Amino acid sequence: DGVTVIDHPLVQHKLTLMRKKETSTASFRRLLREISTLLCYEVTRDLDLTTTRIETPMREMDAPILEGKKLVFASILRAGNGLLEGMLDLVPAARVAHIGMYRDHDTLQPVEYYFKAPEDLANRLIIVVDPMLATANSATAAMEKLKERGAKNIRFLCLLAAPEGIQRFRAAHPDIPVFTASIDEGLNEKGYIMPGLGDAGDRMYG
Ligand code: PRP
Repeated sequence: DGVTVIDHPLVQHKLTLMRKKETSTASFRRLLREISTLLCYEVTRDLDLTTTRIETPMREMDAPILEGKKLVFASILRAGNGLLEGMLDLVPAARVAHIGMYRDHDTLQPVEYYFKAPEDLANRLIIVVDPMLATANSATAAMEKLKERGAKNIRFLCLLAAPEGIQRFRAAHPDIPVFTASIDEGLNEKGYIMPGLGDAGDRMYG
């Protein structure tokens, strides 16, 4: 139904370490970077390939390469940058979009403060990254912005999602598949994912 839970054992193990309250900022950041390479591997596993003629030291051959234009990774600031770094380790040629958004603590509505994306979004696969999908207000607004700018082929990748966030996101954007390492129990009265891992931005940057 458009939602993939990435249950790779290394992902699940690292996620547990990230959830622990005693995990330091330094460890949290390192784990997020490691886990993001594994998530990147899963979110790109069905990309289309074409072939190119190459020459090995032995002879010529037709070898597989990625088809189409370079990927775009779109990071929802700030916490998205933690996922972005590991993604770029695996796909260093990807283009990058930055979407600055924070949640107003009282209304839980997203406030946009920055948007910069490559010009030609229409013909590219765009993978939007943010560790947390809570109310889905931020992610939903980010998708609207990208679609206004011509994006047609989008995937959303997060680390933790609340069931209500997934439901709202899929209702607003049924064309956008969601990838997550966990679907947690739900949201508390302040809109935090429970049991979650706290505020990802704060745990990375203080
Ligand atoms: C967090 C998180 C998401 C958003 C999720 O960001 O990184 O962007 O909240 O919540 P939602 O699904 O209810 O919109 P935050 O506003 O804390 O900003 P930060 O990453 O800059 O700390």
